[in-house]
Amino acid sequence: MANPRVRALIRRRKWGKRDWAITAAGFTFILLALGLTLLFDSRDPRGRTPPTFDHHRHSTQGLVPLTLLHRAKATGAFCLDGSLPGYHFQKGSESGSNNWLLHIDGGGWCSSIKTCNIRKGTALGSSKYMNRLVPFAGILSRHPSENPDFYNWNIVKIRYCDGASFAGHPESEFKNGTKLFFRGQLIWEAIMSELLSLGLSKAKQALLSGCSAGGLATLIHCDEFRDHLPRDATVKCLADAGFFLDEPDILGNSTISDFYHDVVQLQGVAKSLSKKCVRTMEPSKCMFPQEIIKNVRTPLFIVNPAYDFWQIQHVLVPVGSDPHGYWRRCRLNIKECDSSQIKTLQGFRTSMLKALSKVEKDKEGGMFINSCFVHCQTWMAETWHSPDSPRINNKTIAESVGDWYFKRKPWKEIDCPYPCNPTCHNMITRGPS
Ligand SMILES: *[C@@H]1O[C@H](CO)[C@@H](O)[C@H](O)[C@H]1NC(C)=O
Ligand SMILES: *[C@@H]1O[C@H](CO)[C@@H](O)[C@H](O)[C@H]1NC(C)=O
Ligand SMILES: *[C@@H]1O[C@H](CO)[C@@H](O)[C@H](O)[C@H]1NC(C)=O
Repeated sequence: MANPRVRALIRRRKWGKRDWAITAAGFTFILLALGLTLLFDSRDPRGRTPPTFDHHRHSTQGLVPLTLLHRAKATGAFCLDGSLPGYHFQKGSESGSNNWLLHIDGGGWCSSIKTCNIRKGTALGSSKYMNRLVPFAGILSRHPSENPDFYNWNIVKIRYCDGASFAGHPESEFKNGTKLFFRGQLIWEAIMSELLSLGLSKAKQALLSGCSAGGLATLIHCDEFRDHLPRDATVKCLADAGFFLDEPDILGNSTISDFYHDVVQLQGVAKSLSKKCVRTMEPSKCMFPQEIIKNVRTPLFIVNPAYDFWQIQHVLVPVGSDPHGYWRRCRLNIKECDSSQIKTLQGFRTSMLKALSKVEKDKEGGMFINSCFVHCQTWMAETWHSPDSPRINNKTIAESVGDWYFKRKPWKEIDCPYPCNPTCHNMITRGPS
């Protein structure tokens, strides 16, 4: 299992214009748990060849090089394996020169010495394996047609290599003599310090964003980010597919809650969570967005599909919850679900909307909760802003986020329940055969 190799292709299939298929060879549960970013990012685990995304309109023009964070040495802000963390930076221009958009990568978490050891041999735990050039698409794109509001901002993609949403602490290291670095919080601080020196400290407008585990990191670090910037700057945060629900699985077991508990224990995450929350409940509960948002002061926008396939496959119907395989097809492709399974999925959507009621009531809060079977949607051109993007009330995600950021028009969008929205890009995922 060490150094897992993934050859993943994400491409449109003939049988459905809006269906995307993930074909992955050597696909294991562990890799599934690492999430979609791994599929996109680590086609070559050595990171030598830049990925080619044939469905990314501007992929050939938008490649941005990796910068290793040399200042990380001073504070010991290392990736899981002890290598330097990194980021990709594209300088802003003209009206965007003093504006900054940061995007934190996703890629699941590791909850045990064993899974962290596996991860440290991949791009999600070591910069040795990271692609040196990555495409900037969707919210990262420099093309106004693809990214109307942020295209000329300073744009930074922060690589994820600690396994705990940038919230691990070194006090938890070296259990059983295993060499693993739990430096997530230090990495976050070193990256902030570098970006502040590159001009972020003089930002007029800024948006911290992230997808999946990076969406969770965005929520965890949102107020810290705000506090680094000038008081008169406009600063907001956007979490994409990071609204992980504290929900039991279909057997009633607390699978995700137990998993978060293990991540928090292993990496000492409690120190990065809200003190107020940690005083009143089990620290790992404070890592769930529904608790985090109660204490965030900075305006938040939540982009999340109500039928987030990662959550369906890991929170609601993890493999262990379906020993007879009744959900085998449905959990990979929403079109294969029968009516009772759809009813269960509607219950999940209801829980999500309930957990989001604070954001919905908050005057400054924004949301785009579409009824699609997908995961991250902001960093892909097709789902962020394109002629056939998913829409709610005829608005793309990019338009809703822009309307919220600049306070242009009403910016809270909640879709009608599945299968009402024909604009969805529903994914077809393939699990272990
Ligand atoms: C450390 O090793 C002991 C004995 O092998 C084991 O019981 C314990 O669970 C290990 N601790 C961790 C965190 O893996
Ligand atoms: C999940 O729940 C079932 C039934 O309540 C129980 O028998 C089983 O041991 C649980 N599985 C796990 C992994 O906790
Ligand atoms: C939806 O928005 C597009 C532009 O984004 C516009 O051309 C079209 O007319 C709108 N459709 C409806 C039904 O309002």
